[in-house]
Amino acid sequence: KKVGIIFGGKSSEHEVSLQSAKNIVEAIDKDKYEVTLIGIDKDGSWHINDESQYLLHAEDPKLISLNKTNEGVAIVPGQSQNQVLNMSTKASLDQLDVVFPILHGTLGEDGSIQGMLRIANIPYVGTNVLGSAVCMDKDLTKRLLRDAGIGVAKWHTYKKHQKEHISYAEVEQDLGLPFFVKPANQGSSVGVSKVRNEEEFQTAMDEAFLYDTKVIIEEGIEGREIECSVLGNAEPEASVPGEILPQGDFYSYETKYIDESGARLEIPASLDQDTEARIRQTAIESFQVLECEGLSRVDVFLKDNGEIIVNEINTLPGFTKISMYPKLWEASGISYPNLIDRLIELALE
Ligand code: DAL
Ligand code: MG
Repeated sequence: KKVGIIFGGKSSEHEVSLQSAKNIVEAIDKDKYEVTLIGIDKDGSWHINDESQYLLHAEDPKLISLNKTNEGVAIVPGQSQNQVLNMSTKASLDQLDVVFPILHGTLGEDGSIQGMLRIANIPYVGTNVLGSAVCMDKDLTKRLLRDAGIGVAKWHTYKKHQKEHISYAEVEQDLGLPFFVKPANQGSSVGVSKVRNEEEFQTAMDEAFLYDTKVIIEEGIEGREIECSVLGNAEPEASVPGEILPQGDFYSYETKYIDESGARLEIPASLDQDTEARIRQTAIESFQVLECEGLSRVDVFLKDNGEIIVNEINTLPGFTKISMYPKLWEASGISYPNLIDRLIELALE
């Protein structure tokens, strides 16, 4: 089979995608699959095979701290975001049996690339257009989960034009302190801040609106951060859960990728049987409610009283060999190369 691996992309999670792709390219069964590399640079230009190699050998994300003024890092919906598809790229896409889009964030995880592949009639790994778009948007995700009776943190949603009229006092009164400010459409905690006072609030709002025209303000949940990997189509399975033990203030971009001492992963999470079963069930239900397919990582908070609060669903989670998604499957009996195989098979179902 001819497999296209699309990686990089214009989103602020470009570097994370390069690491995921590098590991997949190394591990994929070369006897079984003929791989075409399709790299998208930060300007949105596409590069095939040898021409894309330089991207895979780019810097490690740990070395790259976020540079907010760096053009091409923040993509705000509505801004021009054309990706340049030349004729030879189109011709190469036509030859493929299946595509593994290992892109994170805007244009990669939000239904855009999925729509392009659907129009081109090429099967792809992961969630369809609708599920991808919904899961990318934290506001819509929470509305649908809430409607399905799944626990979510209390939140407010604001559009950019409302920014000057948001009252700190009202937010504080309703959500308590601390609370979190997040761009509605972002991954890897880019643009996310924890707020403890009015001064921090203003900075946090300015920061979040750099990345999106819609922002959510969410109550801070006290609890353990647990993640669960889901795999499958109509009848998905959930992995053993894992736990994030952040050492810093919260599980930020820095603790995820830059400061290695920032967080520890405990796999599997130490949980009693009943709690583990409830988390796995919640992960599967969330996956189904949000129309996910193939793979997703469901991130939850486990409160002291046993309540499970779903934080978010990542339809294209980090996929390096040491990322939570494949690690959890490894702990559940599916090796990294086998997981790639399973995902490609699910795409072709
Ligand atoms: N958004 C990052 C890649 C993750 O969820 O792992
Ligand atoms: Mg995410």
